[in-house]
Amino acid sequence: QGAKLWGGRFVGAIDPIMEKFNASIDYDKRMWAADIQGSQAYVKTLEKAGLVTAPEMVQILKGLDQVRSLSCEWARGTFQIKAGDEDIHTANERRLKELIGEAGGKLHTGRSRNDQVATDMRIWLRSGVDTLTGHLVQLVRTMVERAASEIDVLFPGYTHMQRAQPIRWSHWILSHAVALRRDAERLDEIKSRVNVECFLKRCCLSELQFASISLNSMDATSDRDFVAEFLFWCSLCLTHLSKVAEDLIIYSSKEFGFVILSDAYSTGSSLMPQKKNPDSLELIRSKAGRVFGRCSGFLMNLKGLPSTYNKDLQEDKEAMFDSFDTMTAVLQVATGVISTLQINEANMRAALSPDMLATDLAYYLVRKKMPFRDAHSASGRVVHLAETKGVAVNELSLEELKTVSSLFESDVSQVWDYTHSVEQYQATGGTACDSVLHQVQQLREWMERR
Ligand code: ARG
Repeated sequence: QGAKLWGGRFVGAIDPIMEKFNASIDYDKRMWAADIQGSQAYVKTLEKAGLVTAPEMVQILKGLDQVRSLSCEWARGTFQIKAGDEDIHTANERRLKELIGEAGGKLHTGRSRNDQVATDMRIWLRSGVDTLTGHLVQLVRTMVERAASEIDVLFPGYTHMQRAQPIRWSHWILSHAVALRRDAERLDEIKSRVNVECFLKRCCLSELQFASISLNSMDATSDRDFVAEFLFWCSLCLTHLSKVAEDLIIYSSKEFGFVILSDAYSTGSSLMPQKKNPDSLELIRSKAGRVFGRCSGFLMNLKGLPSTYNKDLQEDKEAMFDSFDTMTAVLQVATGVISTLQINEANMRAALSPDMLATDLAYYLVRKKMPFRDAHSASGRVVHLAETKGVAVNELSLEELKTVSSLFESDVSQVWDYTHSVEQYQATGGTACDSVLHQVQQLREWMERR
């Protein structure tokens, strides 16, 4: 036990099963660079405080530089993890002492691995957040450009999965893009709470480019809000993406036939030769469940913990890494799916039916001064009349319409035009061409500002 960082007061040996159970090195080695960066900033603080001499500081800094290059061996899988390398902090310090001797033992003055792990996580996640923001903005860009180029395509809008009103395909795409923009904004806010110094050493603040400093030392070691927030962010973003996926899975079925997934993002059936399955989208949908589990599982780790550090907190890393890896893959696959998707405009058009214009028929009567409630009811009676006669609503004669309301005139024929229908919705957020182009422009400007 003497070789362990904490071995002094121990006489008995640790059970090998416990040793494995306790170790986090298998996964926290991902933070090797952050751990070294944190230690290099820390030793400068120690020197300022007079706890290490200037030559010792230089020795430690150089030693850590060497550990950093050895850590590259790690990345290549050749680094020798030794017995007793419990976690990344232990491994780096052990190696430092091997390289520079006794001076290495001074690095840990006044800090605990509890401070280190929180710092490493923050450094790691801060750049992780930047990576994900990049992928997310790329996805939004792909959606916006697709919406701009397919602005003239109309298809059914649904509520309750029932045909509701004709909309522009671009309007559907952008409905998801704006949700993803909120996710990008949320990620910016989370970053400000990730990017917090928790060694409580002002020197580290500037050295490690943290934006602010933790106010309370007990909070600093126990605060994993930034991880919980990140996991919630992954959950919400994947909620959005699972909905995109679900819509596209439905739209890609033969029954709908609105979209055709690229071969690059589909797989076949080992039994039925005709099949092309939307596995990419199904996996995106299911990854939502995976990250929800990570989020709720980690909140359960946090709930009711006594103050400051408890080993339960070690569970933060697998949740964070797994969710990060999942999001990285999902965002890139989603971008690939959206950019390579083919649409079948004819099928989209053919899915529009005149009954989807019943709301417009009510608006027609409203323009003739009928109160909307009455107009809604009159239009409903027209739909019913058509149903009983076994014809489409636009096939009823003017005389038949007049049996429902005398306000119907020959100009009612203009209602039965899908483009005319969508063009009525000119207000901000509407599905008229200008309104959708406005959305495109807003999103483009937002991306340029970033
Ligand atoms: N591997 C630990 C973790 O991930 C580092 C902190 C260990 N602290 C301790 N007091 N045992 O949380």
